[in-house]
Amino acid sequence: MIDNFKQLKEKIARLKEELTAVIVAHNYQRPEVQDIADFVGDSLELSRRCTEVDAETIVFCGVHFMAETAAILNPDRTVLLSAGNAGCPLADMITVDELREWKQRYPKAAVVCYVNSSAEIKAESDICCTSANGVEVVNSVANDDILFIPDQNLGHYISTQTKKNVILYPGFCIVHNRIRAEQVKQAKELHPEAQLLVHPECRPEVVAQADAVCSTSQMIHHAKASPHQSFIIGTEEGILHRLRQENPDKSFYLVSNSQTCVNMKRTTLEKVTQTMQLRQNIVTVPEDIQIKAKQAVDRMLAISVKD
Ligand code: 13P
Ligand code: SF4
Repeated sequence: MIDNFKQLKEKIARLKEELTAVIVAHNYQRPEVQDIADFVGDSLELSRRCTEVDAETIVFCGVHFMAETAAILNPDRTVLLSAGNAGCPLADMITVDELREWKQRYPKAAVVCYVNSSAEIKAESDICCTSANGVEVVNSVANDDILFIPDQNLGHYISTQTKKNVILYPGFCIVHNRIRAEQVKQAKELHPEAQLLVHPECRPEVVAQADAVCSTSQMIHHAKASPHQSFIIGTEEGILHRLRQENPDKSFYLVSNSQTCVNMKRTTLEKVTQTMQLRQNIVTVPEDIQIKAKQAVDRMLAISVKD
């Protein structure tokens, strides 16, 4: 396996030169995939990073909406998605027809759209947000009413942190929604000294028990800066790689043993090699949608957040 990884890493390095490519990876990717990336981060950092690229090709190791956001921000570059079938079930929970119907129902509301959504949905929205900046984005909007799509748990968390009236659309992440309050209670009993860090895609009753509610990269920054030595983690298990790498003297435990996003795990070193070799899984966005979706993403990127 290690020899195989070594060979694949060498191949990927050669292909990177051939394609003048940059490789970016989400914090949930397999450890060996994170290790070959030029940049690893959360959705917001990856979007920002994709506005600074000077390579001809962006190889995105993550799921489809992330690569699509890179394509929205870089219409003149080639964006390759590491694993062609890596989707996000949450992003698929709202269609353009459904959004248009909801907009008619709440005509006074501004539409704030979680980046875990398709380009078509972004194009129909006023502004995007990620889990790192949702509260700041919602507070930046002039309207009192906010139609928040598609993640109800993130929307609920934001509603507890703002005076705005947040209308929730009933989407959810199957991975985070699976984490139950009872499992959190058991993990806390097992590790009473540990702080609980959760992603805001978790259920409200899980979020209510947390010491900190963070995006994936904010979790890494929090654990580093904290005087605490151990942490219970309420997000996808891929985050453990960076948490442990960047905090070798601290301990990290998952709430449960079912915190894996199969879509994030579709990317392997073999898939990255094949995608680059065959220049396949090119992600494109039709120009009319790209222009409108970019406005919603650009409005989000103009808002600064503390990490
Ligand atoms: P981040 O915004 O923390 O990167 O999370 C993305 C995601 O897909 C969470 O499930
Ligand atoms: Fe989508 Fe959830 Fe996987 Fe994140 S963890 S990519 S929200 S399914």
